[in-house]
Amino acid sequence: MAIDFSSIPSPAFVLEEKLLKNNLELLKSVQDRSGAEIIVALKGFSFYSKFPLVKQYLSGATASSLNEARLIVEEMGVLAHTYCPAYKEEEFDQMMEYSSHITFNSLNQYEKYKDKVKAFPRKISMGLRINPEYAEVEVDMYNPAIKGSRLGITRNLLGDTLPEGIEGLHSHTLCENDSYVLERTLVHIEGKFGHLLHQAKWLNLGGGHLMTRKGYDHEHLIGLIQNLKAKYNIEVILEPGSAIGWETGFLRSKVLDIVDSLGVKIAILDVSFAAHMPDTLEMPYKPKVWGAESEAVEGKFVYRLGGMTCLAGDYMSEYSFDQELKEGDTIVFNDMIHYTMVKTTTFNGVGLPSIGVLREDGSFELLKSFGYETFKDRL
Ligand SMILES: Cc1ncc(COP(=O)(O)O)c(C=O)c1O
Repeated sequence: MAIDFSSIPSPAFVLEEKLLKNNLELLKSVQDRSGAEIIVALKGFSFYSKFPLVKQYLSGATASSLNEARLIVEEMGVLAHTYCPAYKEEEFDQMMEYSSHITFNSLNQYEKYKDKVKAFPRKISMGLRINPEYAEVEVDMYNPAIKGSRLGITRNLLGDTLPEGIEGLHSHTLCENDSYVLERTLVHIEGKFGHLLHQAKWLNLGGGHLMTRKGYDHEHLIGLIQNLKAKYNIEVILEPGSAIGWETGFLRSKVLDIVDSLGVKIAILDVSFAAHMPDTLEMPYKPKVWGAESEAVEGKFVYRLGGMTCLAGDYMSEYSFDQELKEGDTIVFNDMIHYTMVKTTTFNGVGLPSIGVLREDGSFELLKSFGYETFKDRL
């Protein structure tokens, strides 16, 4: 169905409901067949107006801050699985109110808070994040197992029995990986922490399982999970973020101007790579643009796409179009739902893109628009 862009303001993050449902159906089928609990990581997918839909398919959600934990309780109506690199003393009581599980990143933090958790009137399951010292992530920025990583407890610091009251272990070292990377990672998890897994109730295998990417071998993943469950008599939890929102929507923008810089043609857009798509510069990666090729193609109209901030590096090159671009043309960046909205800024005072949903019947629902107050509130 052709999308009617005239009904969508520019710029706007637009989630396509049908595509989200497809992802959720797939994830639920893996959940049902493997017996794992799949929960959504808010750091990667915080599109909370769709949390009621997510809840129909998945088991819950995981938080990495008090704000995320609260959003889970308020918008999904479930308690959060919570993990933070360190908890703030003044927030911990509230954190317990919002959490069914609390995972500690160090033994210090466990010692500091364990009595509070035990004294809490409702049962909260405590866990420890472990560092298996193995990851297949090329970019250090996204690798929690680099030497000197602050994320997780290394084997040498743990004894032969789980610390008192600890029911689970949590390991997160995957990033946009497949099940075969998980299999190789499990060798390290089991090799270093297998004796503790026999004593634990649950194992949280973190995020980074890109189950909704084409070609992912779901049967292989299901086999791995079933093996773990049988071997250790343990609950297995997966907490993907990217996989939920993977290829479920776009960022709609438009051309504000075309400039020519010594032969380089640049289309200046009403969005910013730095402020609205920071991962494109940070990771970095080149986002796909609908109807354009992501390289210079002879015979086509080649443009650098420029962001609307004054940052010199706020651009992406080169894209080739079949037609010459002109002011007002629509430019659509593909796959802009996971991690984008949560990472936007108002750098340079640029406005944030609106947020909306493209319903299954093709109609557009505008959920939010942002103005001056959003910019000012953060300063
Ligand atoms: C502890 C933890 N869990 C889950 C996730 C979600 O990972 P992804 O969005 O790659 O699935 C992350 C991402 O950084 C994480 O740090």
